[in-house]
Amino acid sequence: MDNLFVNKFPIPWSMTRAEKSTLIQLVKEINPEISIEIGTFNGGSLQVLSHYSKKVYAIDITPEYRDARCKELKNVDFLIGDSKKVVPKLIEKINASKEKVEFILIDGDHTTKGVLADITNVLKIIPYLPITIFLHDSFNPNCRKGILSYDYSKNPYVHNVELDYVTGAFNHDGLYREMWGGFGYIKLMPEKRIKPLKVSQYQEKLFKITYYKSIHFYRKCFGFLKPIYKVFKK
Ligand SMILES: C[S@@+](CC[C@H](N)C(=O)[O-])C[C@H]1O[C@@H](n2cnc3c(N)ncnc32)[C@H](O)[C@@H]1O
Repeated sequence: MDNLFVNKFPIPWSMTRAEKSTLIQLVKEINPEISIEIGTFNGGSLQVLSHYSKKVYAIDITPEYRDARCKELKNVDFLIGDSKKVVPKLIEKINASKEKVEFILIDGDHTTKGVLADITNVLKIIPYLPITIFLHDSFNPNCRKGILSYDYSKNPYVHNVELDYVTGAFNHDGLYREMWGGFGYIKLMPEKRIKPLKVSQYQEKLFKITYYKSIHFYRKCFGFLKPIYKVFKK
């Protein structure tokens, strides 16, 4: 597959071309003082955050990823551990020292509970500048449910929520009938919101149509047959 940015950012990453292009352009435009990434893996998205931010906090449960490909990224503070434990401490420190975070990427634990926990913990941040939060895999049914489970109206700094800022993909990376990718987006502003908040799902219909053709739907409906299938397979 042709990749327009392959030379500038050589570390392989787990995103579609549309997502890569969007992330590069957006982070370049924001030029963040500080970025946070939850979910580093090989360092694909981290190389972009590191390139355009002054400093990055990168969180991953697996230490090998930091050691494998990210050694050269000098402005990155690696925090190893479960984001459910690491993020609350990090946000507490950032709030206490009034650090100017401007961009956050959530791409770690992809379960519904995991996504909800990361959003809940990240949204405890006090915004001293506008903060853009990208939620990767908003097109995946479990992640989407996690994103939708949070009550954004209770946070006065949230001004905008869009689940389909970038639309996701079907059969992504050859994964049979699986729905992955997509960027959801949350905008935090230092001033409190005056108007009521609307959580937008620009491609909700596409999501629903795709879901009924997806493996996620079949698993939900026919998952109870799995033990029987295993018996017959032996
Ligand atoms: C999809 S990968 C991230 C891909 C990366 N952002 C990129 O675009 O190249 C997800 C990463 O989240 C990490 N992860 C999963 N659960 C986590 C958790 N509870 N806390 C921290 N990291 C976690 C995994 O180890 C994995 O490296």
